[in-house]
Amino acid sequence: MTIEDTHDFIRELEKNGELKRVKTEVDSELEAAEIMRRQMYSNGPAILFENIKGYEMPILANAFGSMKRLEIGLEMTDFTEIGQRIVDMTKMDIPSGILNKIKKLPELSKMTESFPKLESSGPVTEVTSNSASFDDLPILKSWPEDAGKFITLGLVATNHPETRVRNLGVYRMQIVDSTHALMHWQKHKRGAHHSDISKNKGEKIPTAIIIGGDPATVFSSIAPVPEGLDKYLFAGITRKKGIKMVKCKTIDLEVPANAEIVLEGYVDPSDIRDEGPFGDHTGYYTPVEPYPTFTLTGVMRRKDPIYVTTVVGKPILEDAYIGKVIERSFLPLIRMFHPEVVDFSMPAAGWFQGFAIISIKKRYPGQAKKVMMGLWGMGQLSLTKMFVVVDDDINVHDMNDVLWAITTRADAARDTTIINNTPTDTLDPASPLVNLGSKMGIDATQKTREEGYEREIQKQVEVDEKTKNLVDSKWSSYGLE
Ligand SMILES: Cc1cc2nc3c(=O)[nH]c(=O)nc-3n(C[C@H](O)[C@H](O)[C@H](O)COP(=O)(O)O)c2cc1C
Repeated sequence: MTIEDTHDFIRELEKNGELKRVKTEVDSELEAAEIMRRQMYSNGPAILFENIKGYEMPILANAFGSMKRLEIGLEMTDFTEIGQRIVDMTKMDIPSGILNKIKKLPELSKMTESFPKLESSGPVTEVTSNSASFDDLPILKSWPEDAGKFITLGLVATNHPETRVRNLGVYRMQIVDSTHALMHWQKHKRGAHHSDISKNKGEKIPTAIIIGGDPATVFSSIAPVPEGLDKYLFAGITRKKGIKMVKCKTIDLEVPANAEIVLEGYVDPSDIRDEGPFGDHTGYYTPVEPYPTFTLTGVMRRKDPIYVTTVVGKPILEDAYIGKVIERSFLPLIRMFHPEVVDFSMPAAGWFQGFAIISIKKRYPGQAKKVMMGLWGMGQLSLTKMFVVVDDDINVHDMNDVLWAITTRADAARDTTIINNTPTDTLDPASPLVNLGSKMGIDATQKTREEGYEREIQKQVEVDEKTKNLVDSKWSSYGLE
């Protein structure tokens, strides 16, 4: 069964014992967020808050907060399949000649099945409101010193103003009043790029905020998909089935027909106001920074909408699991450009943008640096502060193994690369300037003579076969089991 919307997802989670319903009255101001954090830090299930003080709408939280729930939502267990499907598409040659084309038809139609499909109506068009307002949404205040209420899991839709390629990004939004909010699209993200182009033309940018929908569309919004690829197509590739779309009522944008709620409006890139503070993914309050204003012009929603949200803070919370799926699904794409890469890990404690480990099959001198430089030039990996490159005998998911490689194969002066004045994640609390900081790369691969390592490479300790077999055969007699 394909999960078409948030309601289907809830049913599947419940069937698998992955969701609890909270019927006690809960306040959307601080109380709900604290319950969510406690559940997330203790690997608890998703929560459906059915009784939010002052609101009719239930809240779904922590729906993506475990690998199992992501497996249920995305209907797969091996997430590398997602990236592999894109790699396969890029390799697919469209042959010339009618007969050859016919032979390829099954492959071609499999691809077109993933394309978004425009419908005249859908569940999200059940109710269209003339009096657009944020006021009926149970939007959370998460941390005591947050500047107010923030939409934290809204899928922000914009089209590239020139190419019209559709984008989705999860960017938080601070509620200002019933019809205004601040759009926290960070400088390096696609929403901000679209906004910059509109600003140069002296225009506002039509923007829709989508709440809920099928899990693949939520995942696609967070994933750093290759530039130029429609995020709805990426969602369709992920679920092997195209996303059903409908037109917005007050702006020229298409949105998923199966969403719970769609908030329509525009961002005015020249109406800049102070956003924040906000308790962020890093575990610190991101301070006040200027961001543009979103104006709400219309709302479409289901008759029985569910408000989907999350809470962020010091790792490891719900976003860590989504990050893990991104890490797994993008491995085949990284390998497409850097075939020596064997594996890749972004430990959740490093809030993903902070730290990554890459294992490679090294063939030539300086190859670890080649990989670092390549990845620092690749999409959102350009924001990753520290890379450690290890040989392929190291398990990048085992920090003990990684630390062992760093401390036995890297020399601090020879193998550390520092590059100053590079783009860095807006949220980085340590960078000297917002959006500009430095990179550190550690080449923890075994150095060779060609790399100036003149010493004999020391042999790794390993047990001999004879002793191993002897101990294996006598193991049960030692009384150690
Ligand atoms: C819960 C959550 C909140 C996020 N908040 C923001 C945000 O406020 N601003 C931002 O630029 N990115 C935020 N992100 C990260 C973006 O969604 C992510 O970088 C995405 O790839 C951006 O899409 P884009 O490359 O199409 O711009 C958030 C991610 C998650 C999981």
